[in-house]
Amino acid sequence: MKRRPYAGTDCRKALNIQDLARIARRRLPHFVFEYLEGGADDERTLRHNQAVFDDYLFEPRTLTRVGPRDLSTTLLGKRHALPLVIGPTGYNGMLTRNGDLKLAAAASGANIPFVLSNVATTSLEDIAAIEGLNAWMQIYFYRDRDYVRKLVERCQTAGYETLVVTTDSAIYGNREWDLRNFRKPMQPTLRNLVHLLTRPGWIADVLIPDGMPTFKNLGDLLPPGKQSVQGASAVIGQQLDPTLNWDDIAWLRDRWPGKLIVKGILSPAEAERAAALGVDAVVLSNHGGRQLDHACSPLDVLPEARERVGERCQLFVDSGFRQGTEVVKALALGADAIWLGRATLYGLAAGGQAGVEHALEILQREIDRTIGLLGVDRIADLEASALVSRRG
Ligand SMILES: Cc1cc2nc3c(=O)[nH]c(=O)nc-3n(C[C@H](O)[C@H](O)[C@H](O)COP(=O)(O)O)c2cc1C
Repeated sequence: MKRRPYAGTDCRKALNIQDLARIARRRLPHFVFEYLEGGADDERTLRHNQAVFDDYLFEPRTLTRVGPRDLSTTLLGKRHALPLVIGPTGYNGMLTRNGDLKLAAAASGANIPFVLSNVATTSLEDIAAIEGLNAWMQIYFYRDRDYVRKLVERCQTAGYETLVVTTDSAIYGNREWDLRNFRKPMQPTLRNLVHLLTRPGWIADVLIPDGMPTFKNLGDLLPPGKQSVQGASAVIGQQLDPTLNWDDIAWLRDRWPGKLIVKGILSPAEAERAAALGVDAVVLSNHGGRQLDHACSPLDVLPEARERVGERCQLFVDSGFRQGTEVVKALALGADAIWLGRATLYGLAAGGQAGVEHALEILQREIDRTIGLLGVDRIADLEASALVSRRG
């Protein structure tokens, strides 16, 4: 029997992440929901990110005297309550006012790390100031390397200990919703403006009194007169730098004394090379299906990547995680933690900080129940033998 979807708007009544996605859809203007939900081209990778979980089924052990479950884990030397990280997503202020602050507060409450996007609508200093939060900062390498150098210094001054470099977005993915929903960058079509009128709550929350939120960490990358979101979008497009390569990672490794994470890798050989360069962790990711369509899923390469990097660096994965069962499959295949993109964004759009907290509680309960049913009471005890592969 198919699960009956929740039809209301109270985020606390959501039973699962898909319920939160449905509430988000009811709350957001069409063009904002598509920004959150969409993938690149035909969205094959977006669909594969879900389908890939069917390649593995559980083989539970039942007589193992399971005790209270301990979901805590060590990420880059710090103890955290769950094997989860809220990953970097840009322009969160368009989902709800102060979206980054709400995500970060929920991460802090759940004792998991939060990663601020380079294209965030909150300043990195405001995030660093949140009490008790393990904040990590994501950066892009723009053509203007002087900006990158200054941004890295700014992160150091603000007290960040961990930098994340995203490597899969040096060329912007083909996201057709952008072309369909906007006349020009960030200028919705008439059809979208009419739909916007059906979302007065969102207008009051996000647009009044200041209009569209602006980027707070791009500094002098944006020339005078290009500070608006429209101007900034055009500049970011021109600044993406496809010449990004291993020398840039080595340059950053030399310059940055803290932990360094490379995000966006799908080749086990590249994961191995990153580990050899002294990178502290790799995020196997296809950017949630928003960049290269037909790309494989992190789960397709995770076992080989784990084998190649061994214990030299931590391995994180993202793209497509919506349920605790899926998280547990990735952990059993060798991931140290799972980064969340849309799962917590649905919560954010559905109910602000409370919605994110609810999303994390849902996942926590699902992970707890799943490992218990598998006959395991500690995350560290999960092994590939808990899975049956259908890949032959
Ligand atoms: C709305 C949205 C904005 C994103 N912005 C960024 C970003 O600024 N930097 C980045 O490294 N990744 C970005 N990502 C990719 C996420 O960090 C992550 O890789 C992806 O969402 C994982 O897939 P999932 O959404 O299926 O969990 C974004 C993803 C979404 C959905």
